[in-house]
Amino acid sequence: MKIEEITLDQLDGVEFIEDKSRELSREVGDGLAINALSGGVDSSVVTMLGHKALGNRLKTYFIDNGIMRKGEPEQIAQWFGALGVPIEIHDAREQFFSALKGLTDPEEKREAITQTFYKDVFGDLVRKSGAKFLLQGTIFTDVEETVAGVKRQHNILSQLGIDTQKEFGYEVIEPLIQLRKPGVRKVGEALGLPLEMYNRPPFPGPALAARVIGEVTPERVSLVREATAIVEEELSRTGAFQYLAILHEDRVTGIRNGKRDYGFQIEIRCWNSTDAKTATPTRLDFDILERLALRMTGEIPGVVSVTYNITSKPTSTIEAI
Ligand code: XMP
Repeated sequence: MKIEEITLDQLDGVEFIEDKSRELSREVGDGLAINALSGGVDSSVVTMLGHKALGNRLKTYFIDNGIMRKGEPEQIAQWFGALGVPIEIHDAREQFFSALKGLTDPEEKREAITQTFYKDVFGDLVRKSGAKFLLQGTIFTDVEETVAGVKRQHNILSQLGIDTQKEFGYEVIEPLIQLRKPGVRKVGEALGLPLEMYNRPPFPGPALAARVIGEVTPERVSLVREATAIVEEELSRTGAFQYLAILHEDRVTGIRNGKRDYGFQIEIRCWNSTDAKTATPTRLDFDILERLALRMTGEIPGVVSVTYNITSKPTSTIEAI
């Protein structure tokens, strides 16, 4: 089925919320829907929209997959607690890490995350809760890039011919699928979400796993988590579209305390973009870059080299895998 885009000009936030709430309520009927809140803009907006439309016919989980950013579970619980939206935290760290064990190919890593998320974790939650629907924040760009064969975004299912009812035992509802990121932010604002929430830089579904080149282990995620925290602290003031840190697979020879240190390489990316479809690197001040390098090598054990990506999308993509 062809999806019609709703452009930012065409979008009336309040009307969109009313229409989608009616549709959602009709579709779910007196059944139960569940959704996973990751704290990203799309999942936060879909959670709020779902709660407005369905009330206690929607149960929201925060899936702790072990690949989230530093302090993320606490931050999300605090934000949604303040909005009066109940969230249940579900610990699935072991399931994700064992599915990712030994995998280095980007598409295989994505597939492992998709299967663990939809089949194992959600399959279980659906069976336990008796839900018939999964509500998720897929947006227009996710579909476009997956269908174009750029990357398989982990939340794309039916557009790839996957029958979720048959394969996982539940139906997926995607109320934001006609919108791009600026449209999602506009709906977030109309829903009354705080600015810091709907204006957050985008964050990928596969979370920090999208920023680990090579095998995703708890140790390697923890390195990239620290690097991400530093990048976010230092670059949030730039107003850039997105900024991130990537852990490279290869190590390089470095020097520490006068001795050889065969250590890790971190790559920083900072993007100017409006919709993530194309992007250019931000012309960061060299002082900022130097501070980033100093902090990464000083605060993260084992990091000896820090680089800045100067490539545009295309040929680069925003994330690393
Ligand atoms: P890429 O890396 O494809 O990212 O240029 C485009 C935008 O989508 C965000 N994003 C994802 N990226 N897999 C990704 O690789 C996902 O599942 C995903 N979900 C969201 C990404 O952060 C960037 O803003």
